[in-house]
Amino acid sequence: MEHLTTLAQWRAFTDEQRRSGRTVGFVPTMGALHDGHGSLVRRAVADGTVALVSIFVNPRQFNDAADLAAYPRDEARDLALCESWGAAAVVTPSVEEMWPDYPRTTATTVSVAGITERFEGAGRPGHFDGVASVVTKLFAITGVANAYFGEKDFQQLAMVRQLNRDLALGITIVGCPIARDHDGLALSSRNVRLSEPGRAVALAFSSALRAVEGSSLDATQARATMQQILNAAGVEIAYADIVHSDTLEPVEADFTGIARALLAGLVDGVRLLDNAEVTITARKGA
Ligand code: PAF
Repeated sequence: MEHLTTLAQWRAFTDEQRRSGRTVGFVPTMGALHDGHGSLVRRAVADGTVALVSIFVNPRQFNDAADLAAYPRDEARDLALCESWGAAAVVTPSVEEMWPDYPRTTATTVSVAGITERFEGAGRPGHFDGVASVVTKLFAITGVANAYFGEKDFQQLAMVRQLNRDLALGITIVGCPIARDHDGLALSSRNVRLSEPGRAVALAFSSALRAVEGSSLDATQARATMQQILNAAGVEIAYADIVHSDTLEPVEADFTGIARALLAGLVDGVRLLDNAEVTITARKGA
């Protein structure tokens, strides 16, 4: 496995793959890797692409300096994991090269309207602009490729699809299913911060989703069912909604079809997210 550290090495690597007729399978990450990232790298390998992982803790998507400082970093461990998953290369660019003006404000910002305004965007001003800006830059350096994103951050995935479409970046975005622990908890770097009782409470997220998946409830019933399960477990709910999968607008009472259930809430002071595809049936008489 190659370890690249500069933008020039990164560009040369991806150019060379394309010249040789291979497809680059790009997996952008911020490190602190776990098996959820592993599932993305393994998928890139299974698709026959040359898996390239980027590890870059992007300061522009943190709106809290303490959060950025506390973000876990262990490059040696992350590199070993990438190698074990079959990555062909890992790039660990410096902040100086990615954002030459940092910590001063960078003049150019990529901002995706609509999709980013509610849910995770509501309580974290600037977060999605930071993600959109860095993803655009990561794509610009990587060039034409497949890019693998987890469905766990469903709003991020929807935003990335939108910006790729709007800016014609030519990337094939591959959304990958949420990797879960044996007990159903969605894998996240934040799970290590849960106490043992907190972890048991956190299982309410996957229980709430299971209760509405395949149940053919209407949207109002589905929202109420999820809220009731999360409340009963003691989750401090941020949102529990049923939305259109592409726009992330809440579905109407007369909606019938495939939608997305989106959940977020606090357990032990740790913000957890989960989501699933659900089938919704129009409310009777709606
Ligand atoms: O999902 C993440 O880890 C980050 O938001 C991403 C896409 C790597 C951008 O920094």
